Amino acid sequence: MTKHFYITTPIYYPNSVPHLGSAYCTLACDVLARFKRLDGYNVKFLTGTDEHGQKVAKAAEAAGITPQKYVDEISQAFRDLSTLMNFSNDDFIRTTEPRHHRAAQVLWEELLRRDEIYLDKYAGWYAVRDEAFYGEDELTEKDGKKIAPTGAECDWVEEESYFFRLSKWQEPLLKFYEDNPDFIAPQSRRNEVISFVRGGLKDLSVSRTTFKWGVPVPGNDKHIMYVWLDALTNYITALGYPDTTPDMQNFWPTALHVVGKDILRFHAVYWPAFLMAAGIALPHRIFAHGWWTVEGEKMSKSLGNVIAPHNLVETYGLDQTRYFLLRDVPFGNDASFSHTQMIARVNAELANNLGNLVQRTLSFIQKNADARMPQPGEFAAADQTLLNQIESTLPAVRAHMDAQEFHKALDATIGLSNTANIYIDEQAPWALRKTDPARMVTVLYVLCETIRNLGLLLLPFIPDSAAKILDAIGVGENARTFASYGLTSRLSPLVSLPAPQPIFPRIEVDG
Ligand code: MSP
Repeated sequence: MTKHFYITTPIYYPNSVPHLGSAYCTLACDVLARFKRLDGYNVKFLTGTDEHGQKVAKAAEAAGITPQKYVDEISQAFRDLSTLMNFSNDDFIRTTEPRHHRAAQVLWEELLRRDEIYLDKYAGWYAVRDEAFYGEDELTEKDGKKIAPTGAECDWVEEESYFFRLSKWQEPLLKFYEDNPDFIAPQSRRNEVISFVRGGLKDLSVSRTTFKWGVPVPGNDKHIMYVWLDALTNYITALGYPDTTPDMQNFWPTALHVVGKDILRFHAVYWPAFLMAAGIALPHRIFAHGWWTVEGEKMSKSLGNVIAPHNLVETYGLDQTRYFLLRDVPFGNDASFSHTQMIARVNAELANNLGNLVQRTLSFIQKNADARMPQPGEFAAADQTLLNQIESTLPAVRAHMDAQEFHKALDATIGLSNTANIYIDEQAPWALRKTDPARMVTVLYVLCETIRNLGLLLLPFIPDSAAKILDAIGVGENARTFASYGLTSRLSPLVSLPAPQPIFPRIEVDG
């Protein structure tokens, strides 16, 4: 039976061009999507842009163009990011598309039909930057202005509004978290969500009347939908909701929503409540990752320290950037970007550890073993130890990937490369060349097998470089999935090997 896997990024506000923070989450999802495809799953990987709401409308107004023209331009920058970063998303959703308007309106009608939405009046605080309502008790005051816990400025809003009966879902939500301990990760974030819900839920204002840039409320187009209700629906729009499509049936129960810690509440409280209220099953899991700062400071236009993904790619290389962002810091933690750290990590692990292993093994074969894949003899105990480590690495990496622990997956992978480097030093094929050429050939074969499996493990993280590694040892296209991982499928001896090209140049620092 086909296994399915649905993975989503948040949809990004196109109120400014993508930065390191926006590339980070989509990168993590890309790596998971690629991993699952290699592991035999049918995968759907979704990203997109969240184009409605007051924040985007204001940005368009400031730019002096219509919101539609504005989002058309900036949304393109997010699609270009997929090309730049080699993201393999299967779909790109824009909330201004007709398929999405239809889905959001049908969901609304369903909530109304079930009496989950009622008309009343909202009087309270709203932060445009967060597109979020705040209670008086959550705010502080600065220069006469009300400030949300996120630092966003709040405005007083009084308008007719539809409300969603969120309060009614407090107990069902708590029960659901209890019954599904892995629904929210990491654990510390789960605890925060539970204590927030225990603290009491108030009904949520879900429509606005004071501006027009949104999905019209069916039957009352004085109102547009609250941008978060509209935006969250994107995850089912892309599967064909409201139609009962095969995608909805196969993928929806497997959904993993990866989000930043700042928007966990919307995903782990409001979204499940909307879904329960509409009689739709809940996603499988929500993972909240941490935030990047730059050398310890918040990234901001005014500080001029915003890191653009294309700058990193131009300076360090695409795969070096992809590797570093998921390697250095556990995915749930905050991270401070440091150029020194990036250079040190890439040089130590890609250039020295992995790059050297590949380069010295393959140049040695080129010069001393006829430029062909060696034909091994019987394996010695040292060979078997390394081969055993190959066997145990994929299951370990798989478990780390299922827990969204990318740094541990890479640690296990680079650990295998490290063992192989120790093995080559201990076995010293350069000495065996004179004393025991048959043994030398076996050692070289074991090294090539290790390199092949390292190439497979690295395909999700550094697709281009891993493909070069596999090219260099003559692995065919149809042997590049995890079905070919391990010792049951072996390299064919005696195939000619191309002259090796360095794959990971050392990053040299000026001065
Ligand atoms: N449009 C909403 C999401 C709707 S999902 C149904 C939104 N958009 S956003 O553009 O403001 O943020 C998108 C994602 O980028 C969030 O998950 C946020 O956490 C992430 N990041 C924004 N800046 C970031 C960093 N500096 N570091 C890491 N991630 C950051 O919220």
